[in-house]
Amino acid sequence: MSKYHIKTLEEYFQVYRQSVRDPELFWEEVAEEHFIWRKRWDKVLDWDFDKPAVEWFPGARLNITENCLDRHLTIRRNQTAIIFEPNDPSEQAQHISYVELYRKVCQMANVLTEMGISKGDRVCVYLPMIPELAITLLACARIGAIHSVVFAGFSAAALAARINDAECKLVVTSDGSFRGGKTIDLKGIVDEAMKDCPTVDHVLVAQRTHTKVNMQDGRDHWLQPLLDNAYKDCAAEQMDAEDPLFILYTSGSTGKPKGMVHTTAGYMVYAAYTFKNVFQYREGDIYWCTADIGWITGHSYIVYGPLLNGATTVMYEGVPTYPDWGRFWHVVEKHKVNQFYTAPTAIRALAKENLDYVNRYDLSSLKILGTVGEPINEEAWHWYDENIGKKKCPIVDTWWQTETGGILISPIPFTTPTIPTFATLPLPGIQPLLMDEQGKEVIGNPADGRLCIKFPWPSMARTIWGDHKRYRETYFSTFPGNYFTGDGALRDEVGFYRITGRVDDVIIVSGHNLGTGPIEDAINEHPAVAESAVVGFPHDIKGNALYGYIILKETGEDRNQDNVRKEINDLIAARIGPIAKLEKIQFTRGLPKTRSGKIMRRILRKIAHGQSDQLGDTSTLLNPEVVQEIIDHAI
Ligand code: WTA
Repeated sequence: MSKYHIKTLEEYFQVYRQSVRDPELFWEEVAEEHFIWRKRWDKVLDWDFDKPAVEWFPGARLNITENCLDRHLTIRRNQTAIIFEPNDPSEQAQHISYVELYRKVCQMANVLTEMGISKGDRVCVYLPMIPELAITLLACARIGAIHSVVFAGFSAAALAARINDAECKLVVTSDGSFRGGKTIDLKGIVDEAMKDCPTVDHVLVAQRTHTKVNMQDGRDHWLQPLLDNAYKDCAAEQMDAEDPLFILYTSGSTGKPKGMVHTTAGYMVYAAYTFKNVFQYREGDIYWCTADIGWITGHSYIVYGPLLNGATTVMYEGVPTYPDWGRFWHVVEKHKVNQFYTAPTAIRALAKENLDYVNRYDLSSLKILGTVGEPINEEAWHWYDENIGKKKCPIVDTWWQTETGGILISPIPFTTPTIPTFATLPLPGIQPLLMDEQGKEVIGNPADGRLCIKFPWPSMARTIWGDHKRYRETYFSTFPGNYFTGDGALRDEVGFYRITGRVDDVIIVSGHNLGTGPIEDAINEHPAVAESAVVGFPHDIKGNALYGYIILKETGEDRNQDNVRKEINDLIAARIGPIAKLEKIQFTRGLPKTRSGKIMRRILRKIAHGQSDQLGDTSTLLNPEVVQEIIDHAI
């Protein structure tokens, strides 16, 4: 039996049991079966969740790109590695073979070296979903530079904050990006950010939209001419197992975004293993994940996981709605996609439209459907199952996080029974548990509580860039000895997990994690604002939307409230990005506070959810009288 590829439920249980009984032996066998190493590990695992410190395969030496590229050059040299589907359906798709990808990555790696980048340097990648994005990631990995991708929907201020936090030396961007009918001036955003980024020496600019851009002498360089002159071979830097591979920022409840650090060997093993099993990828399949590479899903399941398995992975530049609501299904038919992986928010949006947009296309190539990013509601699950999968394709509801690097809880298709809204069972090597609010493990089934993981897995983030203390406090202090996910979950009679959502102040809007703290900081910058509190409330398509309760300063001036609302949202868009805009803004004279002055978000959340009748006892508040006022004016 192959440890690397599970095919039956019996095998799953057998492998799972082994993986818990002897995790080191289990991961050692997986690592031996599938990968090439330059030097073998001295040990499989070293760990201590108190420090916390985790090392997988210490002593091993490798380069992840030799596993993504070089290894395939003998057996699948001319097989397509990446299918690039442009935003505009009339533009031809590109098929990039493994050998072509290898050469492009080497050329890019040589360009980076020429620009003074070497092992350990940080490179910020601010690119749309064009092939250069995947190529840049791999090129960084080739020479041991650490990539830090910033989603190209973030504002200049958010980009600058991330560049400065990681002290990036170089930025890779493009002149512009196409998103549906819009052209976005990415280079302009980078220029704006550069006013405040002293560590950046060079900006490489890929050409995509042919928009006229400003090029600063000495700093900015067009990418293509440099690539054209670069060698098509580049020796792979030999990395230590625990050398950082990339940094990826995720929102925290408070403070600045957290730069999650992922390292080389463990991430590689886990991304590859989970891709193979969760998508049951078979030689020749065409796999498509609709995420953006700006998020972890794109890192692990558009780039690394698929390429480590010699897969053909689709990269789609545009949005689900362009030129119309049928675009996803058009692409599925066009490229004969076998595995399709998307987010519940996209499913909900598409499910609202006429079924004609689906039925006009031949979806018979589909074998497996996936979802990720937030809980999927039953209605959306059934719509996906019936109309897209035609009830023949198992749906893998995959639960994981930027911090976990790879999928932790998910059905294995054709193996684990699927149940709507359930992520079902932990993958091999993953040991989840539920905790009550007092920090005691909830034993037995059914159960609910806060979801923790008690044993390390290879692709867990090792630290927060530059702030290990925050890493410990955020993930390992709430339930000492365990990794705390920030999510709530329930476990049914047979032990299947259902993720119920965040239990902290992170709100997931259209699959994007947003921390309330940074949004409130942006709102409070408005000169008319005295104080604010942001909570989430259920939204049909986005899953959650943002509700802001805002106290305005008494300036004596009679300000037009609609103008202030707009200015506040503009400010949020500028500081964070348009995705963090408030859907509802209620001006209020007070916010409910505890006697120690903490805002009682629980009450605000209930009111935003339309559940003002379930507030419980509010008499212990410092200012119970404001509650009624807020209820009376709720939107
Ligand atoms: C949520 C995305 C329910 C969860 C890979 C988690 C989910 C956060 C699911 C991480 C799912 C992700 N069911 N909730 N299948 N997948 N989540 O870091 O709250 O962008 O903590 O990683 O998304 O979001 P992130």
